[in-house]
Amino acid sequence: MPNTALLTQSFSRVPKGSGSKELPERYKYLNRKTAAEGIVMLKNENSLLPLKNENVAVFGRVQLDYFYVGNGSGGDVRYPYLVNLMQGIEGRINYNKELAAVYLEWCEQNPAEYSIEWAKWTTHHPEMPLCEEAMKKSATSDIAIAIIGRCAGEDADTTLEQGSFYLTDAETAMLDKVTAAFRKTILIINSGNIIDFSWYKKYEGKIGALLYVWQGGMESGNAIADVLTGAENPGGKLPTAIAYHYEDYPTAKNFGNMDYNNYEEDVFVGYRYFETFAKEAVLFPFGYGLSYTSFSIDPADVKPQMGEDICVQVKVKNMGVMAGTEVVQVYYSAPQGVLGKPVVALAAFGKTKLLAPGEEQTLSLNFPLYFMASYDDAGKTGNKSAYVLEAGDYIIYAGNSSRNIRKAGTVTISELTLHTQLQEAAALDPACGFKRLTTDHTLTKKYEDIPTRTVDLKERILDNLPKEIPQTTGNDYTLSDVKCGKITLEDFVATLNMQELEALTRGDFIMHSKLGAPGNAGVFGGVIESLREKGVVPVTASDGPSGLRLEVFSALLPCGLALSSTWNTELIKELATYQGEELNTKGSHVILAPGMNILRDPLCGRNFEYYAEDPILSGKIAAAMVQGLQTHGKSACPKHFAANNQESNRRINDSRISERALREIYLRGFEICVKEAAPKNLMTSYNRINGVWGHYHYELCTIILREEWGYTGNILTDWWMQKAQDPNFPALTNDAYRIRAQVDVLMPGGHDHYSTDGDGSLLKSYEKEGGITLAEIQRSAVNNLKFNLGIE
Ligand code: BGC
Repeated sequence: MPNTALLTQSFSRVPKGSGSKELPERYKYLNRKTAAEGIVMLKNENSLLPLKNENVAVFGRVQLDYFYVGNGSGGDVRYPYLVNLMQGIEGRINYNKELAAVYLEWCEQNPAEYSIEWAKWTTHHPEMPLCEEAMKKSATSDIAIAIIGRCAGEDADTTLEQGSFYLTDAETAMLDKVTAAFRKTILIINSGNIIDFSWYKKYEGKIGALLYVWQGGMESGNAIADVLTGAENPGGKLPTAIAYHYEDYPTAKNFGNMDYNNYEEDVFVGYRYFETFAKEAVLFPFGYGLSYTSFSIDPADVKPQMGEDICVQVKVKNMGVMAGTEVVQVYYSAPQGVLGKPVVALAAFGKTKLLAPGEEQTLSLNFPLYFMASYDDAGKTGNKSAYVLEAGDYIIYAGNSSRNIRKAGTVTISELTLHTQLQEAAALDPACGFKRLTTDHTLTKKYEDIPTRTVDLKERILDNLPKEIPQTTGNDYTLSDVKCGKITLEDFVATLNMQELEALTRGDFIMHSKLGAPGNAGVFGGVIESLREKGVVPVTASDGPSGLRLEVFSALLPCGLALSSTWNTELIKELATYQGEELNTKGSHVILAPGMNILRDPLCGRNFEYYAEDPILSGKIAAAMVQGLQTHGKSACPKHFAANNQESNRRINDSRISERALREIYLRGFEICVKEAAPKNLMTSYNRINGVWGHYHYELCTIILREEWGYTGNILTDWWMQKAQDPNFPALTNDAYRIRAQVDVLMPGGHDHYSTDGDGSLLKSYEKEGGITLAEIQRSAVNNLKFNLGIE
């Protein structure tokens, strides 16, 4: 048991939980293991780490007042216990007790305050001023550890201010004093987001080791101690590049606007931009992370496989004296043609087993040719709205960061090849045109107009209306009759009256619905008596990405970026399998996770919930999560579909993106997750995407998600939605507009008032000229009930 005398902070934003605090030992172990594997070691000069029984002076109040997770729906888990840094190192590391006592006393006298006001989150805790006495007490120690913590949350972005993105004066003063007093300092950054690194050069020679430990959930302190002591050899790799200055990020001038952001950087997001145009701006590249050992990474020749897969065999050998794991990353470099391309992009990755010194392993890493194709949204190659492979050499590399790579081989495409013909979808509105970044063989920055919408959405929808299921009366079928094969789901839906059909398109109106497990985020499915009589179960949906958010105690998982930094899909899947079982024992059917939006900009308040700036990493980690979560019959709910990359004014903000960047970057992760893991539910986003709200987006939800990718599950809105009239079908407002897009369930339901027909907007246009059709309402009922059918 952790020493509770060292747990000073109340972590008071989250009310106390109820029920049993017991968790399976293996689940706790997996939380600790994941938090440890997710720690990224960015520097370790002269093998300062692991510690060798030196006496360590620990500085920074965050040693006690630790940040375990971010804020909002993705953070409010009633955790059964927490382990802070000092609890974690207690008994395992020889630390300076006198200095620790100074911090303990000061933290008790100056308790960490947590704002309980929504979106006014605590971003940091004011640092303890380092007095003479504290420095004197630390003088007997051999090494210093300094820890700095940050936090962000939902509905508010990180700001370019001290205590948010930047260090505070007090933190800088602490670093000044500590690095002046000690020959070497180990710096630990405890943050769910990337923070400023412009201070780095100043302390470079004095910081011997640097660990980015993210927010590791309830096992945080144990995980850090595991790495500091060498019980765990760090194997984490950055899921996002770290630049020196905020202004270096390609999104910096197009982030934070209230009405809209032009995604001018286009496909050049994160390392794709830095590696192509601004190598020198990067302090730590994407995919980077050190180990206590070293590895040789030897790619063998690239072998084209049967079908369209490309296979890269990579031999990894542990060249050091300590056992460890290595993440092998396969990148490709596509030839510059008429479509500008980043000089490198991730195609596949894999993690070795724990390799003993001298041991080697050959990894076979496969990826589809499709990942190397570019989407031609302008028709510049003569193939508009298609994935194409431009002619030339596609160089395949393997290595352990976007920068440290070796050529593995070449795939030559002798002539321009049309890979997949699709149809234009979700293109930019002509009234909102702007220029995007591109390049050519000179790798200089060029700008070009983004192609805008040319298709008539109205016609497209009318050509694609579903067929009505003829309604029947006089049968008292239940869903069990479908389960046992007596009737089809369509037969059952035929028996539902309009009131029942309407009820299936929205939740039980409120969060904490009485129909679900206490603390739920909402309930859908059997929300009215007559549906329940027909065997439709009320489905409990609960947050979220860092653990189950119910009134009962539940495991607090490492935050999203800690999970993805492991690059270990097997580990994530096993962890999620335990969480899937937790859903069962705690009475939830759908967990509103994973959060998998792209880390477009370091200031997005929810980056801590998400996985990466790269869609392949994000998609693969999300797929592992979904596979694990759904092992025990319940459902994951990947979110927020799509391009929810900013929290400020998130309900209105328009993400203006070229169709190419949308497909290659912002949708690709969802595509991988849907195709590899078949989530049973999926959540739309609050924001607009090229002028249309996620919850009304026919082209995203019906054309791309369902028709192109084959998604057959249920779609939920994010909580409540914006009222709007369908510009193509003026008779349709709110729920009717949404159902036409095939966004099946409004969560948690209702608009202004809670009545039995929602806000009346679904059926208002039914049976009227140009109104919503029975077939569309029935289609959503089928989507919704498919999941209900699988519930025990
Ligand atoms: C968030 C979702 C969350 C939902 C329910 C919304 O504010 O954006 O991610 O699942 O609330 O709590």
